[in-house]
Amino acid sequence: MDNRPIGFLDSGVGGLTVVRELMRQLPHEEVVYIGDSARAPYGPRPADQIRDYTWEMVRFLLTKNVKMIVLACNTATAVVWEEVKEALDIPVLGVILPGASAAIKATKSKRIGVIGTPMTVASDIYRKKIQSLSPEMAVESLACPKFVPLVESNELQSSVTKKVVYETLKPLAGKVDTLVLGCTHYPLLRPIIQNVMGPEVQLIDSGAECVRDISVLLNYFEINRSRQLEDCHHQFYTTANAASFAAIAKTWLHQVVHVEHVTL
Ligand code: DGL
Repeated sequence: MDNRPIGFLDSGVGGLTVVRELMRQLPHEEVVYIGDSARAPYGPRPADQIRDYTWEMVRFLLTKNVKMIVLACNTATAVVWEEVKEALDIPVLGVILPGASAAIKATKSKRIGVIGTPMTVASDIYRKKIQSLSPEMAVESLACPKFVPLVESNELQSSVTKKVVYETLKPLAGKVDTLVLGCTHYPLLRPIIQNVMGPEVQLIDSGAECVRDISVLLNYFEINRSRQLEDCHHQFYTTANAASFAAIAKTWLHQVVHVEHVTL
């Protein structure tokens, strides 16, 4: 038993898609979340900068006495997960391996699409992980640099967003039967993405898949939070505007959460 919170980090609001799934699957666990919206998107940035920014968030979470850290960001996972995992003496999870495994399980045609930020796609990490687990899989990756700014500005249903998603995903339509949402911001656009790809394409939410791994690790290390504790006092922090973050969090988590501005 360990009643300390779990730390989540992301370049902005995208990691909320992981937190939502955590609240559904593991409602007794407490969350400390940091989103670096002031410096989002991370995807087009050089690897060194993504490494530095991610470490700043990791250090912030460590001041909150967390028992585990989840890099709820594919871009940060692609660049720095191994390094953070080696350096800390608490469990550190990323979102890429769970998404890769789930895609292999889901596909029938063995043709998997992956969409992500420019950095995640340039790293080629999904293809490498998928083919290291199952070499016969064909993987087609596509960078979607316009998606994160749309989500950060809460443009989840606008006609501009629909047009951008349609134009961006056109090259993948009809080519794959499974599509990995390889950026934690993308599940916020899920209905539009599903519409463009067609109902027969299975969408894999890499963040949601990672919650199953969180659960396994909590059980393995016997560090679940006590079920006797009634309330969770979740803490949400953003480097940008707290009210904007709270508005997206309210839509996405279906609850009002207290958000504090923080400077890293
Ligand atoms: N949510 C981050 C991810 O999963 C978005 C990265 C960005 O800010 O570009 O990759």
